[in-house]
Amino acid sequence: MMRIGHGFDVHAFKPGNHIVLGGVQIAHTHSFEAHSDGDVLIHAICDAILGALAMGDIGKHFPDTDAQYTNIDSRILLRDIVKLMQAQGYQLGNLDSTIVAQVPKMAPHIAAMVANIEADLQLEPGSVNIKGKTNEAIGFVGRQEGIAVTSVALLYRA
Ligand code: CDP
Ligand code: ZN
Repeated sequence: MMRIGHGFDVHAFKPGNHIVLGGVQIAHTHSFEAHSDGDVLIHAICDAILGALAMGDIGKHFPDTDAQYTNIDSRILLRDIVKLMQAQGYQLGNLDSTIVAQVPKMAPHIAAMVANIEADLQLEPGSVNIKGKTNEAIGFVGRQEGIAVTSVALLYRA
């Protein structure tokens, strides 16, 4: 029994000095506008898993109107969703994500992001892939107004 899910998220930049992606703090000229830590990669991954489970989206499970989620580490939300997935009898097969960012450069940080996410998902090395792409300097990503992430997850019931 296999199920596939897709996730997408965008966060806008505001003046700041770092962003957090996949639990990795990356020095930058801006930070993310967000209720949580703004980890747009983790949010897209949460939505891919919830999508595969046909259980809605991250906002349904962790409303941004709820003060307990203010500035929360998004990895806590991801680990909660893993518990939800396991309670439904599913395990994660593999996961693939694309970070669409004109800046900053993702390549130096990908290995650390993969390690964090594989740990949170309780997966063997080689189960998670993360890619960085620019938006060829066009559109909101190209104008460096924010970052978009897409993610696909395959779940299976053993
Ligand atoms: O060459 P192509 O148009 O496919 O990709 P690109 O958007 O020009 O990005 C080239 C390479 O830069 C990617 O394959 C990533 O390895 C890297 N990259 C990155 O590390 N961080 C980004 N924010 C964007 C791209
Ligand atoms: Zn988000």
